[in-house]
Amino acid sequence: MAAANPISLGATTFTLPAGVRRIVLTGFMGAGKTSVGRVLAERVGWQFLDLDDHLEARAGNSIASLFETHGEPHFRRMESSALANALARPNTVLALGGGTPEQLTNRLLLEQTPGTLVVFLDAPFETLFDRCMLQSFASPDHIRPVLASPVEAESRFRTRQPHYRRLARITIATADLSPAEVAEQVLERLTGKN
Ligand code: S3P
Repeated sequence: MAAANPISLGATTFTLPAGVRRIVLTGFMGAGKTSVGRVLAERVGWQFLDLDDHLEARAGNSIASLFETHGEPHFRRMESSALANALARPNTVLALGGGTPEQLTNRLLLEQTPGTLVVFLDAPFETLFDRCMLQSFASPDHIRPVLASPVEAESRFRTRQPHYRRLARITIATADLSPAEVAEQVLERLTGKN
């Protein structure tokens, strides 16, 4: 099994803690899981996998279309199956969907798959919602069906926060940080530099 590359932080190099085989990023929509995940994977020398993309590739269909045609419960079943499949990969930085930890099956998979270290990217709901709105202007094809009602989205946020927190070994407050700065903080916490 390939070990993680040495990671440069300032003038020193570090390696990940022994036994860590994948880093999983969790948090609400707009938390930066995908953009931070890409930077982290590059720094560690691992593959990056986005669970939403993985699910869409397996389904041969977009998330928006899965929601519209089959409904959310069907989407959630496909998400669990994509997660189980993704967790079989070592040496991977995996970005979850914002709702992945809401399902008990998914939490058990994350807790019980050896070598899995979860990082929670946290920010206030208002910041996350604004980021999502900006993203939807910039990429109108990237549709997030669960954002259709802001009131419902906030209620999902409140329900999910305790799950994100409980799953995570590391929590980073991301509101004022760029993706590169968040990735740097994750590495510092992982390697014990801070
Ligand atoms: C969802 C978040 C999305 C995607 C789907 C549902 C959610 O992922 O899985 O639209 O329920 O929060 P991102 O958090 O990557 O946007």
